Amino acid sequence: MAAVTADQTTQGTLGTQDVADADRVAAFEAAVAADERIEPRDWMPDAYRATLVRQMAQHAHSEIIGMQPEANWITRAPSLRRKAILMAKVQDEAGHGLYLYSAAETLGTSREELLDKLHAGRQRYSSIFNYPTLTWADVGAIGWLVDGAAITNQVPLCRCSYGPYARAMVRICKEESFHQRQGYELLLALSRGTEAQHAMAQDAVNRWWWPSLMMFGPPDEASSHSEQSMAWKIKRHSNDELRRRFVDICVPQAEALGLELPDPDIRWNEELGRHEFGAIDWDEFQAVLKGNGPCNEQRISQRRRAHEEGAWVRDAAAAHAAKHAPAQSSTRTPAQHSAPAHHVEETA
Ligand SMILES: [Fe+2]
Ligand SMILES: [Fe+2]
Repeated sequence: MAAVTADQTTQGTLGTQDVADADRVAAFEAAVAADERIEPRDWMPDAYRATLVRQMAQHAHSEIIGMQPEANWITRAPSLRRKAILMAKVQDEAGHGLYLYSAAETLGTSREELLDKLHAGRQRYSSIFNYPTLTWADVGAIGWLVDGAAITNQVPLCRCSYGPYARAMVRICKEESFHQRQGYELLLALSRGTEAQHAMAQDAVNRWWWPSLMMFGPPDEASSHSEQSMAWKIKRHSNDELRRRFVDICVPQAEALGLELPDPDIRWNEELGRHEFGAIDWDEFQAVLKGNGPCNEQRISQRRRAHEEGAWVRDAAAAHAAKHAPAQSSTRTPAQHSAPAHHVEETA
């Protein structure tokens, strides 16, 4: 969508302004209805912008906080291969945070502002990362279930109405697929290993299964933002719809892994054409959301510490950029432009 931009503000009487506003709203709604992408310079309702900033910020925060539980196991990975895979995965998550903070910046909100809100507890990240990683098998369970749930949630976001968010999600989803597969493969190796390894894999699945189901958010009837987000095509499916899809995907995978899902009520419903499953403990979900999960304190204080300890890196990067800024300007001669700086120095 490019027809209506924020620059096209109508000057004139209040009546003319009202007509112009109505036109802009109509153009925005028509673009959304036609499945066109809204781009940063397009006019958009304030509430649409605010909803996107809130969702993208929460998503970005989840990516970087999510690095912590798994990074906990990098030094104790059981082989060089596993260590290399885990390091690459954790690094991918940092990259996802970067794409998403950048996408949020296109809406006029700086990364600094969003990080300040995260550190002050004014914006959230996914509650799943407030659970501890107690054994090596947790790295597998996170890949299989947590990254798996993330993919189920995020694939529809590749068609989200806001262009920069949708495009960031395309790349993120490709990387998340690798994460999910490495987790599955790790769990498979443990499940087929010794009795103790199998038990460790089962214990990890027991602990991560229910929190993974909670990742889809509250049930539809209790989800405050869902309806408007669906109308704006930011969200394409309801929380419960995605949760059911995830359960349907996981049941045969658990069977192939030789592991049990810790829910005696899971069964195939022929009539509905999907699995039924047991009741989710929403009190636990609310408690973790309110800051009373096992690791809430630890995660946010570690994040604040990492941010403070990284101040010199940000300062150095800013100083480097400032130092090299004049070299980018048009004050250089054409000859200087054609020769890389290091080449000039070496031959001088
Ligand atoms: Fe990610
Ligand atoms: Fe991931």
